[in-house]
Amino acid sequence: MLDYKNNPDVKFMQTGLLSRLFCHEAVYYDASIAMSEAVRTMMRMDAEAAQEAAAQADAGFLWDFWYPAARSTEIRRQKLVKAMLLEVPLVLGRTSEGKVFAMRDSCPHRGIPLSYGRLDGKVVECCYHGWRFDACSGQCVEIPSLSSQDKLKVERIFAGHHPCEERDGYVWVYMNSPGTRLPEKVPAAPELTVFSDKFKITHLSCELPSHIDHGIIGLMDPAHGPFVHQSWFWRKRGSIHEKAKQFEPIANGFRMSPHSPSTNSAPYQLLKKITGEPVTTTIDFVLPNIRTEIDQSGKMWFSSRAMVTPVRRDLCRIDFVAAWNLFFLPVWIFRIFGNIFLRQDQETMIRQAEGLKHNPRLMLIDDADRPAKWYFALKANLIESRRTGAPMAHPMDGPVTLRWRS
Ligand code: FES
Ligand SMILES: [Fe+2]
Repeated sequence: MLDYKNNPDVKFMQTGLLSRLFCHEAVYYDASIAMSEAVRTMMRMDAEAAQEAAAQADAGFLWDFWYPAARSTEIRRQKLVKAMLLEVPLVLGRTSEGKVFAMRDSCPHRGIPLSYGRLDGKVVECCYHGWRFDACSGQCVEIPSLSSQDKLKVERIFAGHHPCEERDGYVWVYMNSPGTRLPEKVPAAPELTVFSDKFKITHLSCELPSHIDHGIIGLMDPAHGPFVHQSWFWRKRGSIHEKAKQFEPIANGFRMSPHSPSTNSAPYQLLKKITGEPVTTTIDFVLPNIRTEIDQSGKMWFSSRAMVTPVRRDLCRIDFVAAWNLFFLPVWIFRIFGNIFLRQDQETMIRQAEGLKHNPRLMLIDDADRPAKWYFALKANLIESRRTGAPMAHPMDGPVTLRWRS
């Protein structure tokens, strides 16, 4: 949201628009600026209201992180694929050399989605006036309407674009917030930890009609298991018992320290029986949205990552990937059970969204909701440290034991 009172660019655009229309430069304008004086006056009067609206418009997203925008297998040949992350419309594609790219799905000329255009090797052509952009850098390489008299510097025009990488079968996009510069060094995209050369891998996903925060605290919530995920193959409701788990702080998150997993879960018992060795489980949560779990028993291992990907403020998606070298676990069996689990969570979140429409007051209780409290504190502390430049404070002082029944 523009601050119409104080934004120097707005003043520049207001005073400079006419003079610049007669020179050989591209004129940048904001659609809301090219309007009548009356409307502009009204908007100045409304500057305060606009600021308030801007605060409300903050959708609670964490910018400057990598997010998975699509599965690698969806980005094929000369196809342009629409995606959305943090309410930013994206167009994804793959150059003829196989490199994936992510542009903002909006032509810098007049805003039509570039996804209506076409991809030609490594250039995206807009469907409206045929401007052509290098897909990986967003740089304009051709404006077909220019005559030999025109002096416009085409190469100075850029379509919005984001760093884009492929890992673990996903197309990851680094989402810096619109209008900000990328950091000098963009961090590496996340990667699933594996422990041998040969392994099976599979991906599952499902959409939740929820804000990312509800998706995430749902993901880390230990107390819903006996009620939402009761199944003959996993656990019975009657098997609920008291648990004590140790947690420790890690950079940008927290870890459930290595421990032997719940004895009331059949798959872990099976694993222990087969290897004859104890099973240890380590579960991490790190900002912005990543839960990883590693189970090991002798040479056998299972590694998974669940992410709650923010699409819009009212929509997120669970992107789950798991890899393992357990010979007795075929991919198709895992997918059947994994999908049952995800559907149970999805069904619950759909019901929750029904209740949240009415803005109820909510509560977080100790100890079962303590991880959710840490999440909110981590998020707030990160935003604060980015604002002030001071190091990020961690909500945990050190290791702590949480107790709950599940
Ligand atoms: S709107 Fe894309 S070229 Fe004009
Ligand atoms: Fe769940």
